[in-house]
This record gives sequence, structure tokens and C-alpha cells, in this order.
Amino acid sequence: MTKELVLYFSVYGTAQKVAKEIARQTGADILEIVPADAYDSDRSHYSALLRRAQKEHDTNARPVIKEQLPVADYDRIYIGYPMWCYTFPMIMYTLFEQYDFSGKTIIPFNTHMGSRDGGTYRTIRQLAPKANILTGLPVEMSSAETGAAKAVETWLKSLDKE
Ligand SMILES: Cc1cc2nc3c(=O)[nH]c(=O)nc-3n(C[C@H](O)[C@H](O)[C@H](O)COP(=O)(O)O)c2cc1C
Repeated sequence: MTKELVLYFSVYGTAQKVAKEIARQTGADILEIVPADAYDSDRSHYSALLRRAQKEHDTNARPVIKEQLPVADYDRIYIGYPMWCYTFPMIMYTLFEQYDFSGKTIIPFNTHMGSRDGGTYRTIRQLAPKANILTGLPVEMSSAETGAAKAVETWLKSLDKE
């Protein structure tokens, strides 16, 4: 049987809401990518988070993931994250460099405020060249707040044809 996992990184909780919706509709297991050094999830501290994100981006940082993830145990992995600074958070590089996705199916999704996927689905193809990458789902933040059930449902159905 194909083992499915929803793996996500989220600071303000919107990518988490979409992740939970995907898990609810697919029955997949769900796991959060937790950083060793937590990000400030208080939205009134946005400028400080932006400064940290920008610095990590500019220094090509690899933020440490707190715990080992059971990537090897799954065949089909939904991977979700927010757009940060026109790309994905640098911890996603840590994920793709630390774990082997060869032979697995990756289905990306992300939340954003206008950048859609910002080219990150293409970046995932480069970082995991031996994985089968299916069409991703970008979800605008305000619709992600409610889990975007309908968009997730339509998208999941379209994946059946790939
Ligand atoms: C540090 C930071 C940088 C961001 N940069 C972008 C961006 O470049 N493009 C964009 O569309 N949205 C950007 N956003 C908005 C987030 O993608 C959006 O708020 C997303 O829903 C957050 O996901 P989360 O709730 O799972 O953390 C940024 C948000 C933060 C906190």
C-alpha cells in the first residue's frame, strides 16, 4: 500500500491549515517540520521575522530541523511551506539536502500573499531530481486561513490524472 505523508513548515499557521485539510481529505499522516531555533509566530512582530528570514536567505543559511523525519517510510509526500522573500524558507533547503527523496512522489503546496509558488516547484525539481514531482497548489493566505477545502479537493482530484 502507498504510504502518504503531509510534511509542512508553517509559522503563522496558514500552511498548517492547508496541510491539515490535505491530511483530512487523503487520510495521509501529517508531520510538522519544526526548526531547532523557533521562529516568532506573533504576527505583530512581522518585521523581526522578515529581518531574520531575509538574513537567512542572504547568507544561504541552513536552519536546523529539530528532529529526524521519517521520510524514508513514505512513498508519496505532500510538502508545504509559506512563501518567504520570493522563495521558500531556507529550512526547506535543509530538508531537501538532508533527506533522500529519490523514487518518491512529491506533491508541493504553499501559502503566499501574491507570489504564488514563486518558482519553488521548479526549485524542488532541481533539489530532488530523482523524485516524481506532481503539480503543486499555491494557496493565497486569506483562503488558507480556512483550510481552502474546495481548492484542495479540486486539486487532489486533478492529481489522479497525473
Ligand atoms: C518573512 C516573510 C516573508 C514573506 N515573503 C513573501 C513573499 O515574498 N511573497 C508572498 O507572496 N508572501 C510572502 N509572505 C507572506 C506569507 O507567504 C504568508 O503570510 C503565508 O500565508 C504564511 O504562511 P504560514 O501561516 O504557514 O506561516 C511572507 C511572510 C513572511 C512572514
